[in-house]
Amino acid sequence: MTKRTECTGGGPKLDNGNCTNPGPDGLPVQCVGIWATDKHHYLRQYIGATRSVRKKFLGPGKGGAAFIDIFAGPGMVRVRDTGDIHPGSPLIALQHREAPFSKLVFADREPANVAALQARTASDAARVKIIPGDSNANIDKIASQIPEYGLNIALVDPFALSALKFRTLERLGRLPRMDLIIHFPTGDIKRNVKQNENTRQWLTEALGTDSWMTTFTSMKDIGRLIELFKEQLSSLGYGSMSVPSEPIKNNKNLPLYYLVYASKNPRGDAIWKSITKNKPTGQRGMGW
Ligand SMILES: C[S@@+](CC[C@H](N)C(=O)[O-])C[C@H]1O[C@@H](n2cnc3c(N)ncnc32)[C@H](O)[C@@H]1O
Repeated sequence: MTKRTECTGGGPKLDNGNCTNPGPDGLPVQCVGIWATDKHHYLRQYIGATRSVRKKFLGPGKGGAAFIDIFAGPGMVRVRDTGDIHPGSPLIALQHREAPFSKLVFADREPANVAALQARTASDAARVKIIPGDSNANIDKIASQIPEYGLNIALVDPFALSALKFRTLERLGRLPRMDLIIHFPTGDIKRNVKQNENTRQWLTEALGTDSWMTTFTSMKDIGRLIELFKEQLSSLGYGSMSVPSEPIKNNKNLPLYYLVYASKNPRGDAIWKSITKNKPTGQRGMGW
């Protein structure tokens, strides 16, 4: 029998990634490593730093500004080492008060997470749309909720490579102002690409090309893989090739995944570059 990860205060981690024990509000919380707070740090910084430009899109007759979280989780996390409970990405965006988003679109395939999101966002229901089910299958439905002429940012934060699909990014990228922060799971790829046939297929689907098979010959080429991903994004009009991706590292200081930023506007690139200079742990990673 596989040993289940124990979470301080949360009990064993469930198969859906949540703690056995709910949060103080009685609703499910996701059991996370401390590094999830690094991801949330960058997200918070980015949302804060984009407030002035977002403000221009808010108000009557303006295009609006949406935050889209297609792998949203339940809205709160518990750090397994410490038991601390924090807002997850959907609530970080929802609770932001400077030039608040006019629309928030959340999606998750786990019914428990959808119910938790509904309860936690109930007082803001007029701004929030929650779409249950597989976000890759539902991407047209999700996209139809995004203000077409708005200033929009999507967080694409799957647990694993299997859920990251380039055709989903392609659909989001059809919107004119659709910035992206993408969790690119290098750890999962490194662990599994050699021995797992599914991983090879998933990598092709994540990158939207199988050309990696000829260029990615060694695990040392992981930076090249991120470059290829960015080249693919540039084919959608994203010009962020020179923007470093931000490593999210585990307790042993090893990158688990990279946050890849993509915007069609150099101003977005400049903001991401600027906010990522402020590291959450004081350590500087090598960005690709
Ligand atoms: C890493 S967690 C999200 C964490 C959240 N973004 C945060 O920072 O608080 C990934 C979430 O994606 C959901 N998920 C995984 N595959 C999915 C899919 N194909 N469609 C929709 N949700 C999916 C999982 O249920 C899980 O809640």
